[in-house]
Amino acid sequence: MSKNTQKKPNSRAAWSGRFAEPVSERVQRYTASVTFDKRLAEHDVRGSLAHARMLAVCKVISKTDLAAIEAGMRTILAELRSGKFKWSLASEDVHLNIERRLTALAGDAGKRLHTARSRNDQVATDVRLWLRDAIDAIDAQLVALHKSLIDLAERHAGTVMPGFTHLQVAQPVTFGHHLMAYFEMFARDRERLADCRKRVNRLPLGAAALAGTSYPIDRDLVAKELGFDGVCANSLDAVSDRDFAIEFCAAAALVMTHISRLSEELVLWMSPRYGFIRLPDRFCTGSSIMPQKKNPDVPELARGKTGRVAGHLMALLMLMKAQPLAYNKDNQEDKEPLFDTVDTLVDTLAIFAEMVAGIEVDTAAMRAAALEGHATATDLADYLVKKGLPFRDAHEAVARAVRAADKRGCDLAALGLAELQQFSPLVGADVFEVLTLEGSLASRDHAGGTAPKRVRAAAKRARKALK
Ligand code: ARG
Repeated sequence: MSKNTQKKPNSRAAWSGRFAEPVSERVQRYTASVTFDKRLAEHDVRGSLAHARMLAVCKVISKTDLAAIEAGMRTILAELRSGKFKWSLASEDVHLNIERRLTALAGDAGKRLHTARSRNDQVATDVRLWLRDAIDAIDAQLVALHKSLIDLAERHAGTVMPGFTHLQVAQPVTFGHHLMAYFEMFARDRERLADCRKRVNRLPLGAAALAGTSYPIDRDLVAKELGFDGVCANSLDAVSDRDFAIEFCAAAALVMTHISRLSEELVLWMSPRYGFIRLPDRFCTGSSIMPQKKNPDVPELARGKTGRVAGHLMALLMLMKAQPLAYNKDNQEDKEPLFDTVDTLVDTLAIFAEMVAGIEVDTAAMRAAALEGHATATDLADYLVKKGLPFRDAHEAVARAVRAADKRGCDLAALGLAELQQFSPLVGADVFEVLTLEGSLASRDHAGGTAPKRVRAAAKRARKALK
């Protein structure tokens, strides 16, 4: 790279031939993307090598040129990996930086690489290659989180806790059942990402700037070499749309939404008012003023970061909404939200997989909470229905019993037989089976129910599906 390039802004831009003066330094900084898109460097090299090999097969460039390009790229990869590659703002973006270095290393062969290609199809290809790897990395973290959830769910398939609606005690459930609900959410997230990956995995190269190219190219060959499932069918669409990235951000926002719900629960459960769980110390922090504090910072931060990821989805939607076909520079703005979304997900999921594995459960506290709030009231109503009372009447009778229990300051299940019989003559001595937490759990014995044996079966199925 000549010294000249480094000093004056834009003195040798790749496209400077038709310009009378260089752009100002501020404009150069404003329009350049290299500070963030250098992350795409290795994918850019991969895409370029596949393109060059195809050009050689199709006899658009010579074998000698190809060899020079391959050798130059080997050096560039080594420089990238050792941190020795010199980035320059004057070269605007990752693509032109690499091309400039290649030309310095390989001479005219380097200048021929851009035949039958544009940065428009190049950048779209790079982002797709990068995102495909990112989706695979996120999926691996989701699997790790799944494993932690299944392990904990299996251990607590019979641990009773209050199930809530409106955050009021509703009916007893098992902690394992509660955890398996999150398993289901993250399983759908994996499906969504896998589905999105299919649309990410299409090759834009060959679209060139927007209309295709007059050279005799073989797009399928490039697609195959890069592991794409096929080519983008329309050149205008190939260079301009970023719906695959938007779709990914939507799936990512849902992953974080699920993480955020779990976080909210962890925070509540850790509060002494609940006291259901403890998180290992390495996931908590203290207070600089209150010596007694142990704060669930990780779930709180994850809840906070969910807003940021949802914001990235909005950013990409707004980025796309008024763009005419085909490529517009607006699209350069797709990268930072996309990168940050991936970084946030990978970090959050990795930490959660470890944190969930380390959750310690206070089963006695969960049980005590389930014994407050008349959690088995519905079971009593169902019991009366089975003895012939219409459900609405049963509901009314039990509601009156609950009021009486409240008045006495005890739970419904603590009322005696004679007391219960005052609310319905249908109550018999067998009533206490259904009023116990275990009786209530065991009775929900159907697909999707909270009976411990169903939870065990669900966890077993889930574990098998992971393999
Ligand atoms: N840095 C650009 C981007 O991220 C590359 C494509 C530039 N294309 C162009 N015609 N200026 O979108």
